[in-house]
This record gives sequence, structure tokens and C-alpha cells, in this order.
Amino acid sequence: MDNTIAVIDFGSQYTQLIARRVREAHVYCEIFPYSAEPAEVLAHAPKGFILSGGPASVYAADAPQLPDYILEQQLPVLGICYGMHLLTHRLGGRVAAAARREYGQADVHVVRLENDLFRGIELPNGLMRVWMSHGDHTDRLPPGFEVLARSSNSPIAAMGDVQRGLYGLQFHPEVVHTPLGHELLRNFAVEVCQCAPDWTPVFFIEQTIESIREQVGEDQIVCGLSGGVDSAVTATLVHRAVGDQLTCIFVNTGLLRLGEPEQVIHTFRDTMGMRLVPVDATEEFLEALQGVVDPERKRRIIGERFIRTFEREARILGDVPFLAQGTLYPDVIESRGPERQAAAKIKTHHNVGGLPDDMSFRLVEPLRYLFKDEVRAVGEALGLPDSIVWRQPFPGPGLAVRILGEVTWERLETLRAADAIFLDELGAAGLLRDGTQQAFAVLLPVRSVGVMGDERTYQNAIALRAVTTEDFMTADWARLDLDLLARASNRIVNEMRGVNRVVYDITSKPPATIEWE
Ligand code: XMP
Repeated sequence: MDNTIAVIDFGSQYTQLIARRVREAHVYCEIFPYSAEPAEVLAHAPKGFILSGGPASVYAADAPQLPDYILEQQLPVLGICYGMHLLTHRLGGRVAAAARREYGQADVHVVRLENDLFRGIELPNGLMRVWMSHGDHTDRLPPGFEVLARSSNSPIAAMGDVQRGLYGLQFHPEVVHTPLGHELLRNFAVEVCQCAPDWTPVFFIEQTIESIREQVGEDQIVCGLSGGVDSAVTATLVHRAVGDQLTCIFVNTGLLRLGEPEQVIHTFRDTMGMRLVPVDATEEFLEALQGVVDPERKRRIIGERFIRTFEREARILGDVPFLAQGTLYPDVIESRGPERQAAAKIKTHHNVGGLPDDMSFRLVEPLRYLFKDEVRAVGEALGLPDSIVWRQPFPGPGLAVRILGEVTWERLETLRAADAIFLDELGAAGLLRDGTQQAFAVLLPVRSVGVMGDERTYQNAIALRAVTTEDFMTADWARLDLDLLARASNRIVNEMRGVNRVVYDITSKPPATIEWE
């Protein structure tokens, strides 16, 4: 790919954000660990490098070093925080521990605006609001560099050797707390590295269709559809590339939301004209889940059952060498370096579509280098319906982890009806796309006393959950309008049988998780 920026990861928690900001400027970039083989990185013919921050100090014994091949290319380099220290250290400047750690918002005074990095950035009085997070800092410039910005705590807050296109920023341009940071990253990619900003959904679609055709040739390919945006976009791209060589398998686990199986079948088979094999495995799943209350056991059983069902259906199709999967870039990055593996296991995430290695399929993963918002943009450009493109995430194990206690058909139907009412009210208020990132009902394993008419009732309790979040790693409970909650609650107890109490979950994550199991 022409016009690529290589982001070299030194362990910063913000590395993914750097890549996102560059992509938002319509320049393609990829993240590589600092230990990547030079040939692997150079195969992408990058036009410049961004060195991420990282937790180390350049003088520490085991600190990650700047790989030689980067400066040898004589291409532009932007070092951010630790990346700036690496440049400083390697090029003959000095890095020192700051008198005190600097963490949080700061105003830097930009003293040199007439260079490609700061080109066109409007700064009242030359001041720029930035986000700092560092212990060390550059305290002597390498030869050939000049100071571009200073702050009271960081006399060298930005530096550059403009001739060679080498820049260092002590602050983090990739985070939202540096409001003009995205312009700096755009400038680096477009002005300094001269990358054409041509990375658009339409460009991606054309390129991807071509490469799928090349990879799959005349062979058959299967794809597991879940109804979510990732598998939908994957299947659509493959379908555009190889038409009826693609067969989609849709497993109805019985654990889906109201109307979901019908919607998936209608959209993909009837509207998009794909070959779709719908498999109703409800009974199998319910049987396997009988008497099971432990959340992790539920997940294991569902994951296993799903795989077996999928395998069985794929075998019926005969000789199918390829499997299309909707793996996204964050999954790829997460599974790369040992330093990037989550420490404590909170839940085993079973993603419908995540299939075992021993299936002997060759994988086609067209979304491997995309972030979720890019997948949505591609979905829109492909003309997929809003209900799929903007569908909120839904866990692979489905409603089974939203029914606390045993999963039975009757309890599933109760939850489905309550959930549909809540989503209906949120949808009517226009809150399903931007107002909340995930919203659902949960069936609690308790009964409580109520009164309806003159009768005592002893029935189920439903919890409503709605959260706002950027990355699903942390989340806040949504401050929904109380009248909306009242309408949802009234409708749930009045329109449904068997529920006499509705509560709203007001815990954030952490300490809770988004799902209840
Ligand atoms: P938690 O509950 O861990 O959820 O805060 C974070 C996000 O992950 C989704 N989730 C799952 N997705 N399989 C999935 O594919 C799972 O087992 C699973 N558990 C939770 C959850 O819906 C939220 O979006």
C-alpha cells in the first residue's frame, strides 16, 4: 500500500489512538511492535514513522531501544513522549528525569509555527492546550534540532529538525485532551511525510474486493453471520467479490433478541441476495444449558455448541477451503505482543464467529486492519441498512448471560419482550445510536411481591441497563430521562405477564461490568 505510516509501539496505552487519528486524516497506517522484524515493517513501504510513548525510561537497563532500521530509512519520524526521548538519546541529546512527574493538562507556548508540523494551526497568543503524562523529558536538544514549543515544566515541549523531518513531542497529540492534536498528526502524515489523504471507505472496498478475488479464486467460502456489523460487512465484501461462491451460515441459538433471526435472514437472503443457510439450533442450545447457572459454564457450553453446529453445517456443504471472519484490528493488536495481554481474566468472551484453529479452513479476514468506526463507515458505503450498521454490540452468548440463573424458554421469552419494549422506547427517543452505546434488559433470579388490581402478585423483576462508553473497557450508566424510564417500566409491567417490578442499574464499570454475568 502506498501512503502508509508505520506506528511503532513502545507499550503506550495510547498507541491505538495514534493509529486512529492518522486514519481519521484519511492516511493509512499500521501499528508494529518495536521488536518487529524490519523486513515486515519495510514491506509496507512506509513514508514515515511515528514512535509511540511507553512506560520505560530510556536509561533503564531493559528499556526498549530505537531499532536501527528506522533512522536508516532517512524518512520523517515523529517521536511522542518516550518516542521523543528515544530520538533525543539516539541523536546525541540528553534525557533527564523531570523534577516532578507532569500529568494532566498544560498550555505550551509554540515558538516556531513556520514548519510543516504546525502548519496552518491557529493558536491565540501562540498557546496550545495539551495533555502531558511523563516522568522523563528532553533537557538538551540533539544537534540540528530546535525548540518548537515550551511550557513552564517542559522547556522542550516540542522539538524538530525540520530539514530532516524529525520531530519530537513531549505531550500526547493523540488524546482528546489535546484538542488540536489531530491536526498535528494530520500535518505529520500529509505535510511532512507527503502521504496523500486517500484512505476512504470506497477506496478500501475496491481494494479489498480485488484482494478477496485473488485469494479465493474459484473456491467455495463460508461465513458465519451473527447479525452484528462485523460479520455483516465481512459477508457483504466477500459476496461482492465472489458472489455465490459464498455461503453464509446463520445459527439461531434461541438466545437472540426479539425479531433478530427474522431480520438477519430477511436482510441477507431476501434483500442482499446471498446464499444463506439458516440453522435453528434452539432446542440443542436449551438442552445443553438445562440446569446451568454458572456464567462461565454457560459461556463454555454456548461456545462449544456453536462451534459444533457450525462445523456440522459447513461439512454438509462439502469442499469449502475458506472461512471469512470479521476479526477487527483491536483483536489483532491485542493478540500480538506479550506485553499486551490482559492481566486478569474477568470473563471469557465468546464471540460467535470465533472458531477453532483445528477447522482446517484458510481464513479470509477483510476487516483485519480496521477499527470499529471504520467498519461502520464501510458498512454505510456498502449500503447496509442502518439497523445493522449501527446495531449496538450484542454478546456472543446472547441472552443467556442476561438471564441470571437457569435459562429456560419461558424466561427467554420474558426477557425478549421486556428488552424489546426498552429498546423501542430508546429508539423512539433517538437514543440507540448516540445516546447510549449499549442498552438492554436483564432478568433477575428473584421474585418480589407486588399488587395489581386488588391482588397480591409474586413475580419476576427486570433490571434495565444503559451505558455510555467509548471503548467498552470503562463505562458510565446513562443518565436517561426519568419519563422515558417511567414509560418503559409501565409498559413492561402492563404489557407483559409475569413481571411486577423494574429497576434501573446505576453502577458504572468499574466496579460493575456492563453485562450482569
Ligand atoms: P463487560 O460485561 O465485560 O462487557 O463489561 C464488555 C463488552 O463485551 C461484551 N461481552 C461479550 N461479547 N462474548 C462477546 O462476544 C461474551 O461472552 C461477552 N461478554 C460481554 C458486552 O456485551 C460489552 O459490549
